Parts: sequence; C-alpha cells; structure tokens
Amino acid sequence: MSALRAENVYKVFGRRSQEAVRRLKAGAARDEIRPMGTAAVIDASFEVQQGETFVVMGLSGSGKSTLIRMLNGLLTPTAGRVLIGDQSVTDVSPAELREIRRTKISMVFQHFALLPHRTVLDNVAYPQEIRGVSKAERVAKAEEVIALTGLAGWESSLPAQLSGGMRQRVGLARALAADTDILLMDEAFSALDPLIRREMQEQLVELQSTLGKTIVFITHDLNEAMFLGDRIAVMRDGRVVQIDTAEQILAHPADEYVAKFIADVDRSRVITAGALMRRPISVVQLGGGPGVALRELQSTQGSAAYVVDRRRVLHGTVYDHDLLDAQRRGDRTLESVVRPDTSAVSPDTPLSEMFAPAAEAQLPLAVTDDAGRLVGVVPRVSMLEAMVPPSSDGAESPDVAADQSPGTAGAPPGAVQAAGAAGNEVTASVPVPDETPVEGETR
Ligand SMILES: Nc1ncnc2c1ncn2[C@@H]1O[C@H](COP(=O)(O)OP(=O)(O)O)[C@@H](O)[C@H]1O
Ligand SMILES: [Mg+2]
Repeated sequence: MSALRAENVYKVFGRRSQEAVRRLKAGAARDEIRPMGTAAVIDASFEVQQGETFVVMGLSGSGKSTLIRMLNGLLTPTAGRVLIGDQSVTDVSPAELREIRRTKISMVFQHFALLPHRTVLDNVAYPQEIRGVSKAERVAKAEEVIALTGLAGWESSLPAQLSGGMRQRVGLARALAADTDILLMDEAFSALDPLIRREMQEQLVELQSTLGKTIVFITHDLNEAMFLGDRIAVMRDGRVVQIDTAEQILAHPADEYVAKFIADVDRSRVITAGALMRRPISVVQLGGGPGVALRELQSTQGSAAYVVDRRRVLHGTVYDHDLLDAQRRGDRTLESVVRPDTSAVSPDTPLSEMFAPAAEAQLPLAVTDDAGRLVGVVPRVSMLEAMVPPSSDGAESPDVAADQSPGTAGAPPGAVQAAGAAGNEVTASVPVPDETPVEGETR
C-alpha cells in the first residue's frame, strides 16, 4: 500500500473554481480559464511509497506549495482527493484532520517557524506538548532527535542565537519529534547558504537511511532534487509533466521543458555505480587454481582478474605474472596470490566518487553489495561517457529508451553504446579529463 496518494487533484483559486475545473477536464488550457481563477494544480496523480523520498520540483509558481498543502489538508482540493494510507484527507471533519496532522504527517517550512522565546529543547518538544505527552516523555523524545540532527549542546539556546543552518536543524528536529511517518518539506533548505545546504542534504539522506520516513520534499533546485529524490515529480504550470528516477529523467526527459531544466545538472552527483555497472567479464574462482585462472585470462585477453569465492564474495585481484609463479609452485588455490581490492564501491556510490578509485586500477571498478559480493563492474570509459548529457537534437537511439523498463537501473545511452567495445580492459589511453570532478566530493 502506498503511504500517500493523490488522485486527479485540482486546485483553482478564484470564485468560479468548479467551472474552471470542468473546463480544464474538457481540455481547456490553463490560460483559457484565467478569467475564472488561477489553476495552481491541474490533474495531479501520484503515489508515494512507504519510506520513499519523493521530490516535487519546478520553477517558482508551478504549483508545488499548493500541492503539498493539499497533501496535509491545509488546502482542500477543488477536485480529486488525497489519501494517507487508505484514509482520505479530503473529506474528513476538521477534528479528524487535526488528528491526522498530529499523528500522521508533519511539515518542515522554509522559514523555520520557530517559537522565538522558547529554547531549542522546548521548540523541539512542542509538537509532543500539544499532543498532551508527559513532560518526561517529550523531553526524552526531544533529546533523542536533537542528538540525531546534530544539535546536541544547543538545547538551552534561543533561536536568535543560532545560525540559519542550525535553525533549520531545529525545524527538522521538531518535525521528527512529532514521530509521524510522513514528513513534508517545502523548500526546507532553500534559504540556506550553499555549503550549509549541502550539509543538510547529506544529513537528511543519512537520517533517512535509519529512520525510513516517507518524505515529500519540494525544491526548485534540480541538483537538490536529484541528490535527495528516490523519484522526482517535475511540475510545470500546475501540471506534473514527468515522474521518474533522477537517472531516468536525465536519460529520457519527457519533453523540451524537462530537457532544458536538466541541461546543467551536475551529473556526477546523480549517476551512480549501480546505474553504470555491467556484468563482470574477468572473474575467477578462489578455489579454482592458477591454471584455470590463466586460461580465463587467455580467453578474456586480460592481464588481471577479480577473484570471488563460491558465494561470489570478492576477495581481490590476481595478476598474470603472480598466477604463473603460483602455477610453477603447484599451488592449488589462488589464496597465495590474490591481492586485496580496496577500490570496490557500492551500487549507491555517485560517479563523482568513482573517478579516484578507478584512476589507478587495471580492471574496471568493482561494485560490491552489503555482503561484499561482486555484483558488477564499471569500465572507466562508461564513467567518462556518463558525464556527457544525451544530445538534445534527438540523435540518441530511441531503442535504448524503449528497452529500459522503469525501475531497472538504466545506464545513460552513451554508456550502453560504449559497453560493447569497452570489453573488460580499460586501456591507459583513455584520458581522464582535467575537470574530473573528484574535488566535488565533500566529506
Ligand atoms: N492563496 C492563493 N490565492 C490565489 N492564488 C494563489 C494562492 N496560492 C498560490 N496561488 C497561485 O498559484 C500558483 C502556484 O503557486 P505555488 O503553489 O505557491 O507555486 P510554487 O510553490 O511552485 O512557487 C501561482 O500562480 C500563485 O500565484
Ligand atoms: Mg512554494
């Protein structure tokens, strides 16, 4: 079951809103119904899954705030409905609505909305206070989320004594203290300096990995959307024009508007190892012995191979000369010659963090899962190809788009084409450009 769902939601501000919706449903354009009102949201439908970070992105005025306010019942849709779990938010009594907002859905605002005369601790404990939770219990909860959000030591400070970044941490902590499964964040980081903003984005991702909230995050910033969103809904003039993963949007923008929007995205932060990886070719078994491994190198025409055990856990790399020595010694396994591989990355590793480990390696970069199993490799040429946006003149092959089903990790078309020719050896002649964005990493 989805955590949150919008079904054909419309919001028209104006006295003739119902008539405007009828006209819109009959196919009228947004501008045509202007005399009846402002169509802020037009026919929005989507489902947000439990634990998902769903980003709504669009230019100022595209309807994002109106949409999010309908999600928690602050605004009533002119038509359509919103459901939290299986409960409608749209036609419930004011008392029920208050209950929903207290227990199911909380919101973080752009301008913090902190109570100025209360300390950090009391601000964070406030939602629990209005819920009538006992003092000991709400202080305990507040202290827990204060620690989570990096505010420890600031409990007795007043908002005015904090920097903008710290204040937004308090806003976030307060929303977390409410202990709702769903968190709505409307341009929550937009007022912050770029560096602090990046810090908050990283903190949110980290928090999310342990808390697993359902988050609807609004932003007009594409890089932020791509960094945070499991999926992104792009809004334009009140309409949702595309809902997809960042990588799918990058590879296959739905229309010219989206294509323009993504033209200057920092691809190195968005594209991950999981999207670029392909089946490893040079792989040998730890227990298989040097002779078998050498034969494998012959067939792949390589000078090194990855070594895995029966469970496919990656043990490291073997090189041809070591294998020859081992064969002369009569070794039965590769234990004596396997060299640990320290460059393996996880499927979530962004491209920006893959160039450094890939630079030295003789083999394509190994991708391992949580259990250390080799799940794929990324040839360096694929990484270079991925830095280049798909051409906007439609020159890219539509076939590539067709056979990438949504939900599978789709590599940008360029990378797919490169795969056939790349083989398993990354030759030293592939230049790493000067602007290799390793310095884009922030740690
Ligand atoms: N209360 C309101 N009354 C009339 N028009 C509104 C109201 N709220 C928003 N709008 C209009 O609806 C459109 C979408 O606004 P908004 O949802 O705030 O967009 P965003 O959050 O994407 O900047 C804009 O044209 C805005 O002027
Ligand atoms: Mg807004």
